[in-house]
Parts: sequence; C-alpha cells; structure tokens
Amino acid sequence: MFHHLPPAVIDPILSVAEAFQHDSRPNKLDLSIGVYRDTLGHTPIMRAVKTAAIALASEQRTKSYLGPAGNLQFNAAITRLMLGQAAPTDQWVTVQTPGASGGLRLLADLIAASRPHATVWISNPSYANHAPIMQAAGLTVRHYPYLDAEMRSLDRAAFFDHVRQLGLDDVLLVHGSCHNPSGVDLEPADWQMLAGLASRQGFVPFIDMAYQGFGDGLEADAGGLRIMDQACEQLLAVYSCSKHFGLYRERTGAALVKGRQPSLIRHKLFELARRQYTMPPDHGAEIVARILTDAALRQDWEVELAAMRQRILQTRHALVNALAKYDMNARHLLAHRGMFSMLPLSEPTLEALRAQAAIYLIKGGRINLAGLPVDQTDRLAQAIAAHSPG
Ligand code: LMR
Repeated sequence: MFHHLPPAVIDPILSVAEAFQHDSRPNKLDLSIGVYRDTLGHTPIMRAVKTAAIALASEQRTKSYLGPAGNLQFNAAITRLMLGQAAPTDQWVTVQTPGASGGLRLLADLIAASRPHATVWISNPSYANHAPIMQAAGLTVRHYPYLDAEMRSLDRAAFFDHVRQLGLDDVLLVHGSCHNPSGVDLEPADWQMLAGLASRQGFVPFIDMAYQGFGDGLEADAGGLRIMDQACEQLLAVYSCSKHFGLYRERTGAALVKGRQPSLIRHKLFELARRQYTMPPDHGAEIVARILTDAALRQDWEVELAAMRQRILQTRHALVNALAKYDMNARHLLAHRGMFSMLPLSEPTLEALRAQAAIYLIKGGRINLAGLPVDQTDRLAQAIAAHSPG
C-alpha cells in the first residue's frame, strides 16, 4: 500500500527546529521556531499558568467529555479578550480548537463547505503553514502583495490596489498583529480602510491572532479586529494561546465566525470538528479560563506578559545597535512588532550561519527575536557580518 506514498513535504519551521535539537555544539542558538525565551534562554511556564494548573489538579473532579465547542468558559473569555468588554457578541460563534492551526483547518473546511471555489488570499510572505492548511481543505490559495521590495515596511499602495479587486468569492487572510514572518503590521487607518472595502465589496476578512499582547499591548493588538468587527457583517478569526500564555504544547486555540446565521454556523462547525478531532483538549483552555476570570491571576499574567513584551523590544534595540557596529543599518526593525522580523540574508548566508556559527534561522531570513538572549546580540551581528557577501 505505501509503495506509492509520495515523499513528505518538509516543513520549513519544524525541520529547522529538529535540526537544532540534533546539533550538539554547546554554543548553538535557535532563532527559528516562534518560541519566547527569557534572558537565560528558557521558555518559562508563566506564573499564573503554574498557579492555575496546580489549582486545577486539586479541584477538578472529572475528565469526562466536554463537547465539540470545547471549554465554554474559555470561549466566552477569549471572545471578550479579543472583541473587548462592551462589544455585542450575539452574531459571533466561538469554538475552542486544537491550537490555532486546528482553528485554521476548521475554518478552511467551513469556507470549503460554504463556497468551494473561494480563493483564500494570504500575504507575501505569510506564516509558513497558512497555505498548506488552506490547500489541505481543497481551497485555492494565492498571495497578495504586502511588503516593499526591501521587505522593511508595508507596500500600502500595492496592498490596497490588490484588495480593491476582491469580491464575493474571496477570503482575505490578515494577521491581527505582529505579522509572521515580517513584524510589519497594518496601522489603525489601514484597518479602517480595509473594513470599508470589505463591507462594500463583500469579500470576507479572516484574521489570524496569535500574538495578542506581544506587540503594543492586549488592547492595542486587538484594535484591528475590533475595527473590522464594527464595520463587517461577516468575519472569520483564529486565536492562539501558545505564545502569550506560553501554552505551546497544550494546543490551546479558538476559531471564531461572525455571520447572520450563528446557529447554523455553530452546528456546521460541530459537524466539521467531529470529523477531524471530535473535540479539543481541555487542559490549556481550562487554565486560560481560570486566569482570565480570576482578578489576581489575570493581573499577574498581564504583568508577566508586559515584561515579555518589553524584553522583546529591548532585544530589538540591542540587535539594531549591534548590527550598526558592523555597518549594517537595521533601524527599520524598531518599527516592527512581535517576535519576528526578516533580515535580508541569502540562502548561502543562512547555511553558513548554521554550519559555521551554529546559529539557526529559517528560510527567508525570519528571525525570532524572542529567542535571542541579549548577551548573544553581538555574536549574531558579528556572524552575519562575517558570512554576508561583500
Ligand atoms: C512559528 O511561526 O514559528 C510558530 O507559529 C510555530 C509554528 O507552529 O509554526
């Protein structure tokens, strides 16, 4: 049977993370997969997560099934965190999913069930798993222009010229904040413009929110989604708790749909979830629900999250200063937000960094700044200077 199995497609992120694990050099530096690390290079379990997990272990009385929507308290709390305390939510359906990747696939299936010939537009570049997930659901994926030629900032004219062509058969997948891989975000005025175009032209915006709180703060990072919510009758969104709750391996995420027939949408999502995974894992979602509904835990989480955000910003500054010492001007990195930015590094340079300096970045030059200890910035800048042509 397996004679005809085609070779597996190599994932550009997980394959680098795996190569890093097998590297035995003591000075190896992983700037590939999007994982936050503290100044000592550890990915911490956040204090509030630890406290909630301990309470959960002693208080929980059953591990019986929940349902296809997952943890309902989690769904309500996440919806509020995204949309804000006062926003009407009666047109929204939220279901918990196995990570945001599970949410992407669930919504891809929903799009395919509603409009099989829809085109999903993703930014060039975009998160490496966007296209494969959408294509696995049978959808057509195409790219829209996003960055300028030097990949430093938004090519606003090209982006909006493109968006003005979209219509009823189009879904526009955008990053809510902290664009992966570039760190280049839409400004509030861009979101306003996008919201107006979506409501006039009828294309469906699809917002991927994986980094709320890693950019400018919990409220600011949800600003784009909230602008879209005020203007658009139809919206899709996915949410990840991997980074800002540090729950990576717990696969804690959500899929949200805004539409005129919430009951039909909810039941269709249940049907699609049943076919894929029946129901999502509860542990991470219950922890998040406890944190968001307990004043003390929530405050502690927000304080720790703010410190993580500050550390990433400090690392941005430290790297820009270190690169300047080697005559490389990277000041545009300071305008980027979140864990990622892109460095203009060729494939041979990336290969040399890996082979000769034990420094791992992924194809395209994306750097995870949240993985860079401040005391390693000079070493990184020196290695880039040494291995870049000319
Ligand atoms: C990343 O972009 O590195 C992360 O979101 C991890 C992943 O799932 O690819």
